[in-house]
Amino acid sequence: MEDGKPSQTALMVAMLRARHFLHEPEPKILRDSLAGLLSGASSPELSSQYLDQIHEAFSALSDNETAQKFISQLEHSVCIRARLVEEELALAKAQGASQFVVLGAGLDSTAYREPELLTGLKVFEIDHPDSQSWKKECLLKGNVKIPDNLTFVPFDFENTTLDAALTAGGVSKNKITVFSWLGVQMYLTDDAVKGTLDVLGGFPSGSTLIMDFVSPSYETATNEQKSSVDDLRKIVAGMREPFLSEYSTVALANRFAGANFSKSEFPTIGDIADQYLGGDLDRLEMHPKAQYLAVARV
Ligand SMILES: C[S@@+](CC[C@H](N)C(=O)[O-])C[C@H]1O[C@@H](n2cnc3c(N)ncnc32)[C@H](O)[C@@H]1O
Repeated sequence: MEDGKPSQTALMVAMLRARHFLHEPEPKILRDSLAGLLSGASSPELSSQYLDQIHEAFSALSDNETAQKFISQLEHSVCIRARLVEEELALAKAQGASQFVVLGAGLDSTAYREPELLTGLKVFEIDHPDSQSWKKECLLKGNVKIPDNLTFVPFDFENTTLDAALTAGGVSKNKITVFSWLGVQMYLTDDAVKGTLDVLGGFPSGSTLIMDFVSPSYETATNEQKSSVDDLRKIVAGMREPFLSEYSTVALANRFAGANFSKSEFPTIGDIADQYLGGDLDRLEMHPKAQYLAVARV
């Protein structure tokens, strides 16, 4: 991230969730009704203007059709990962989870639009201080009420100990906790990823981590997927948020095991998106065998 500036990739993914909410036919994968307000893309017109800018950046790397396809892929991938968190949260709550920690929260709006799902939970948004103060301004400008059960914890994964930040923020290490860590691993060094997993694996049994990850090219399901990831790598590097680490599923599973997680799963798009789309997987531009999500349980 650029010093003193909020995450630009956080803005991009919020706009993609807004695109989904405003333009995707039913059934939608995710209903992020606040993404538009928080990212400034609150009407179909504004959303189109912003998306044109994203499209321009992608078209510079490839042709128009490939850029369109890639934006759809990215939109669906950010919506699927956020939906998976909602589903896991509902399950974990029924099994005694009492904390929900959003790591690298960006403009994630779960805490503001899902009061029922979050009733009875303490919610913590942990993010880089530059992104967090900008989010607070976006919330204020949008007149979005901050729920009483939400605490903001400023934190830099590369320069501070997560353990200390969690304690200072009031996160209890004795409570069953759901961690959402979406769109963050790839922007961190391997040391920071390992350090984070080591802390999360110390939470009580029943705690769950949902994260996405970038795989090395040899693990991608198709050449097309490999070239999409390469394009994304270039785009985010241009936003001064370069990818810093990548994991094969085996390497990440080993990291989870080494950090005391008892179980990890790497669902394919086919495994999870099918139910979100009422069986209409053809709507996705993604390969059904693609794996970019991990659910790890302590
Ligand atoms: C692509 S955004 C994802 C935001 C959100 N999780 C989502 O899915 O919409 C990446 C997030 O990682 C955070 N981030 C990146 N590097 C970080 C660091 N070193 N310390 C803390 N947060 C960081 C950014 O502030 C940003 O909110």
